[in-house]
Amino acid sequence: MTTTTPDWAQRFSQRMGRVRASEIRELLKLLDQPDILSFAGGIPNPVLFPTERIQAGYDAILSDPVQSAQALQYSVSEGYLPLRQWIAERMTRDGVPCDAHNVMLTAGSQQALDLLGKLFLSQGDTVMVARPTYLGALQAFNGYEPTYLDLPETALSEGVDAQALMAGRAPRPLGYFVPDFANPTGQSLTLAEREALLDLAQQLDMTLIEDGAYRELRFTDQALPTLLALDIARSGSIEAARTVFCGTLSKTLTPALRIGWVCGPSAVIEKLVLLKQGADLHVSTINQMVAHRAVSEGYEQHLGLLRNTYAARARTLLSALERHMPKGVSWTTPQGGMFVWVRLPEGMDGKVLLERALAEERVAFVPGEPFFAEVPTANAIRLSYSLPGDDQIEDGVARLGRLIARMA
Ligand SMILES: Cc1ncc(COP(=O)(O)O)c(C=O)c1O
Repeated sequence: MTTTTPDWAQRFSQRMGRVRASEIRELLKLLDQPDILSFAGGIPNPVLFPTERIQAGYDAILSDPVQSAQALQYSVSEGYLPLRQWIAERMTRDGVPCDAHNVMLTAGSQQALDLLGKLFLSQGDTVMVARPTYLGALQAFNGYEPTYLDLPETALSEGVDAQALMAGRAPRPLGYFVPDFANPTGQSLTLAEREALLDLAQQLDMTLIEDGAYRELRFTDQALPTLLALDIARSGSIEAARTVFCGTLSKTLTPALRIGWVCGPSAVIEKLVLLKQGADLHVSTINQMVAHRAVSEGYEQHLGLLRNTYAARARTLLSALERHMPKGVSWTTPQGGMFVWVRLPEGMDGKVLLERALAEERVAFVPGEPFFAEVPTANAIRLSYSLPGDDQIEDGVARLGRLIARMA
């Protein structure tokens, strides 16, 4: 009997047409080489992982017969109640009065984005996003075959004609925004921009997804209110809000526990629980219990360490850019998070710069283009300061500055 290899491309669902590997991923495979100075990985610095606390958590739970029987068992899709309660209390202190039934645990906030896409998007629906936006959100939503609408950069500061913006598009868009220390720009929306976004959402009857992944990594004591908090101030309660908040412990504890959450109206949470059941039943029970122990004591102190460390790295990067970048290059000044967005001289392509930076200067970063949903901008790159040390930052930026000067 002869067998033929199935033509898989023919068999995959229509939605897979929208699901692609990025060419940049190929280039970034080179990152494993030890002599590369990398600003590419937007991941937490492992020296900041609370390893001992996590180990103590696993030890304590597994050495207690009652707790270990619970920890190693299946559990409810909503998530471990004490952790949901801790999140609800924290959200309440952050201006979002709510309780545990407004919170569902997810496998990282990435899963929250996927489940929210599944809940809200039918094929051809409009998703409104910032220019640029988090690439992983686009990957999560792409499977639900929406069309994207880039919100013009000045729309929130200078105003925009809401109806003209939506011309020719499916009405009642889903909005996705990262108001605090965004990936990839490191920038935050001002209070006025947050209010303007809520005005726009009201005019368009838009559901808002607020991604707060970097909110806790602020370098100053001043936190602006979340979109959800501002929404509740207008609508009266979380049950009347149009905003759903996604949070995560990935950036503050460790991404390996895969603990994220959605906080929103209970009508939304109830449906998400059904989707979570279908996707993977629940987040790892033991990881939720360990995470709960880890945040229950000393979390504020740990956040203080993270904030100081990342703030110092950001200062080093910003001062190196000041000294080494040629004219025509500009960048954002983050007040939190892990990223600086660098605008290259007009006509310079971030992808070409990456190829040459890897080959000629052994420096890596992420080109800006994939972070745009609708109309890409080529002359931008994302630098992350979370991993490299001070000397590497200085050396890497000097090399990059030299190359940009050669190419300009
Ligand atoms: C803006 C943003 N949202 C969500 C995520 C997903 O993180 P996690 O699934 O680990 O919570 C990331 C990760 O880089 C991110 O940058």
